[in-house]
Amino acid sequence: MLLLLLLKKLMLYSHGKPPSKVRTIPSWVLPPHDSGSTNASPCNWFGVSCNLDGSIIRLNLTSSSVNGTLDNFSFSLFSNLAYIELSINKFFGVIPPLIGFLSKLIYLDLSTNQFSGSIQPKIGLLTNLETLHLFNNNLNGSIPPEIGQLKSLIELALYTNSLSSPIPTSLTNLRNLTRLYLYGNDLSGFIPPEMGNLVNLVELYMDGNNLPRTIPSTLGNLSNLIMLQSFNNSQSGSIPQGIGQLKSLQGLTFQTNNLTGSIPTSLGDFTNLEILNLSSNRLSSRIPQEFGNLKKLIELLMDESQFSGNLPELCQGGKLQYFAIHHNQLTGKIPKSLRNCLSLATARFESLEKLNLSHNKLSGLIPKSFEDMRGMAYVDISYNELQGPIPMSNAFMNASIEALQGNKDLCGNVTSL
Ligand SMILES: *[C@@H]1O[C@H](CO)[C@@H](O)[C@H](O)[C@H]1NC(C)=O
Ligand SMILES: *[C@@H]1O[C@H](CO)[C@@H](O)[C@H](O)[C@H]1NC(C)=O
Ligand SMILES: *[C@@H]1O[C@H](CO)[C@@H](O)[C@H](O)[C@H]1NC(C)=O
Ligand SMILES: *[C@@H]1O[C@H](CO)[C@@H](O)[C@H](O)[C@H]1NC(C)=O
Ligand SMILES: *[C@@H]1O[C@H](CO)[C@@H](O)[C@H](O)[C@H]1NC(C)=O
Ligand SMILES: *[C@@H]1O[C@H](CO)[C@@H](O)[C@H](O)[C@H]1NC(C)=O
Ligand SMILES: *[C@@H]1O[C@H](CO)[C@@H](O)[C@H](O)[C@H]1NC(C)=O
Ligand SMILES: *[C@@H]1O[C@H](CO)[C@@H](O)[C@H](O)[C@H]1NC(C)=O
Ligand SMILES: *[C@@H]1O[C@H](CO)[C@@H](O)[C@H](O)[C@H]1NC(C)=O
Ligand SMILES: *[C@@H]1O[C@H](CO)[C@@H](O)[C@H](O)[C@H]1NC(C)=O
Ligand SMILES: *[C@@H]1O[C@H](CO)[C@@H](O)[C@H](O)[C@H]1NC(C)=O
Ligand SMILES: *[C@@H]1O[C@H](CO)[C@@H](O)[C@H](O)[C@H]1NC(C)=O
Repeated sequence: MLLLLLLKKLMLYSHGKPPSKVRTIPSWVLPPHDSGSTNASPCNWFGVSCNLDGSIIRLNLTSSSVNGTLDNFSFSLFSNLAYIELSINKFFGVIPPLIGFLSKLIYLDLSTNQFSGSIQPKIGLLTNLETLHLFNNNLNGSIPPEIGQLKSLIELALYTNSLSSPIPTSLTNLRNLTRLYLYGNDLSGFIPPEMGNLVNLVELYMDGNNLPRTIPSTLGNLSNLIMLQSFNNSQSGSIPQGIGQLKSLQGLTFQTNNLTGSIPTSLGDFTNLEILNLSSNRLSSRIPQEFGNLKKLIELLMDESQFSGNLPELCQGGKLQYFAIHHNQLTGKIPKSLRNCLSLATARFESLEKLNLSHNKLSGLIPKSFEDMRGMAYVDISYNELQGPIPMSNAFMNASIEALQGNKDLCGNVTSL
């Protein structure tokens, strides 16, 4: 009975509203004067699970419209809890330091609520925790260094909060971590080079912070990584050659930074790469010819940088859906292989619809084979040095004058000309 009352306290409403307001969880409303009938056992309550001894080990109230705080929850009396899932509710207030009493916790998900204040150092006591989800709240302050004590952690998701300060180096002690999501905070300072010790990482998302230093080359040690996101981070310096070792990568997004220098040639060996977004940087030099080997590419975005040289033969895989290369300093001819992205479009609904080659220095004739590109809807070849006949395909014939202007000497039967 004591347990039961204490558990109900979880539901304490602000301004002293009684727990009976919990209309979405009817089984939590006690029958009056009921003291110990089997029905009243909290093990039968919605969202509560017990072990064979009748101890509560799991609490799952996800998406239950609960509006309340954890302020008066008697953590010390639920020492057997292993799973807490309170995601997608309207919990607010701080996450109490007493949560550190729940030493058997394996899984803690408080995501998508309105928790505020800082993450308490006592969280470091939860040394059996494998999953910690605190994303989509209003948490601020720094990530406590004590988080580095959660040695069993496999997945850490702190994204979309207002966490600030540098990433604590202790975080890099969590050797079993496979997924680390830090994006959408105000983290600052440098990425600890020791991040390269997290060799079990499969996904690393750090984008949308303010980490205005170079990318450490030690990240090249993360050989299991399949997704690396660090866009919109004010990052400068070059992409370290070490990144070229991450051959399992399926996605690499470094767009909207201030990266300079060339891209590692070995990116052309990333045969699993599906997404490469390097838009809006100051990257220069050639695009490696080896990019022609990237047969799984779906998105290739390298616009608004300073790439020069020839465009490689792309599209051997015919899977490209998003391709942007405008606003660079590319020279030479438009490669015939670009047609491969497009001629397949009738067969492959998902193929490239838009080809924007504007603002480069491409020269010569537009390959006549582009007339096969029936699936393409929009083309923009403006501001190059192209000449000769415009291919007789819908996209070219319907192109606006703006999409064709600024070239050397184009001619053809185009509506807008
Ligand atoms: C928590 O308990 C204290 C007294 O123990 C009480 O004053 C306070 O109102 C309770 N908080 C909430 C949110 O009900
Ligand atoms: C909580 O319950 C939901 C559905 O009711 C389920 O999808 C989810 O896996 C549960 N979470 C845990 C940690 O048991
Ligand atoms: C939660 O309840 C409090 C007090 O009843 C109320 O002020 C607040 O707006 C509610 N929050 C949400 C998200 O409904
Ligand atoms: C965190 O937010 C609270 C309000 O929720 C505020 O009082 C506190 O000053 C903030 N702390 C930091 C470090 O920004
Ligand atoms: C890390 O993972 C390995 C393999 O799954 C496991 O044997 C080990 O106990 C884990 N370490 C910790 C601290 O949980
Ligand atoms: C980039 O980050 C800033 C804050 O750091 C944010 O306001 C902006 O929306 C982000 N932009 C994108 C495209 O993610
Ligand atoms: C990690 O990367 C650094 C720099 O790229 C390198 O010097 C070091 O040997 C690597 N460590 C391991 C364990 O591979
Ligand atoms: C790049 O650096 C310049 C000055 O060095 C700065 O004004 C600009 O905001 C930076 N851009 C990004 C996306 O960080
Ligand atoms: C790639 O990055 C650019 C620049 O931030 C952004 O506008 C675009 O949506 C991204 N493209 C994809 C397909 O993610
Ligand atoms: C091509 O890119 C330029 C530069 O960003 C842009 O102004 C133009 O609208 C784009 N063309 C199309 C067809 O999207
Ligand atoms: C181009 O114009 C023709 C004739 O007006 C029209 O049938 C066709 O749908 C247009 N194609 C595109 C891709 O807009
Ligand atoms: C230009 O195209 C229009 C419509 O497709 C056609 O009627 C006309 O004969 C063509 N003119 C020339 C010179 O090919």
